[in-house]
Amino acid sequence: MEKKYSIAIDGPAGAGKSTIAKALAKELGYYYVDTGAIYRTVAYFLDLLGISPKDVDGVERYIDELTVGIEYDEDGRQHMIMNGMDVTEEIRTQDISQKASLVSAHKVVRDMLLDMQRDVARHNNVIMDGRDIGTVVLPKATVKIFLTASAEVRAKRRTDELLSKGQKVSYEQTLKDIKQRDYQDSNRPIAPLKQAKDAVLLDTSELDIDGVIAQMKRIVAEKIGL
Ligand code: DC
Repeated sequence: MEKKYSIAIDGPAGAGKSTIAKALAKELGYYYVDTGAIYRTVAYFLDLLGISPKDVDGVERYIDELTVGIEYDEDGRQHMIMNGMDVTEEIRTQDISQKASLVSAHKVVRDMLLDMQRDVARHNNVIMDGRDIGTVVLPKATVKIFLTASAEVRAKRRTDELLSKGQKVSYEQTLKDIKQRDYQDSNRPIAPLKQAKDAVLLDTSELDIDGVIAQMKRIVAEKIGL
């Protein structure tokens, strides 16, 4: 099998991972895999069943009834399929963000999703974003980038994004949520959010999207060549 390239992008919520990864994937002709969307799908499924994301027994009991699928449309957009149903839009709320953060701390959930993520990278050139891609999912990724920004900048970006989709959110609430998720994602015992030793750190607080893309291209070019 011909060699596959993988670009791992990790970082906290709202650092701009998905916007940047999507743009870069398009340019390189790679698959873009948003792993946060997979955890969101699990959270949404349990939420529909009325299971609290903190309920260890409930999560363990019902997780086997979930089949998660990833599909790509002709524009290369990732769709999340929950037991045959497209839930791509439904999972993008502040409530599901919080629940996904809690659900993702369970070992049974992370174990179930690990092979699925590795499988995509085994068969395709990928840009994968998440929290543990460079550390756990693809420890041998060709390029690893840790994307971050101040909590305030991330909250502003996330608020603007949700408002543009017509969701009612305030900056203050979003900032609080982001700080809480940072804490949860960084302090869980299994696969916490952490910069891999061999990842390049990129702080996007002072950069606009084009600036970040330019920096990312430079980093990728050094490793793979564009
Ligand atoms: O990237 P996101 O905001 O859509 O992710 C939602 C939650 O899913 C995040 O708060 C933590 C969890 N997550 C994870 O634990 N590991 C990943 N690789 C991606 C997301």
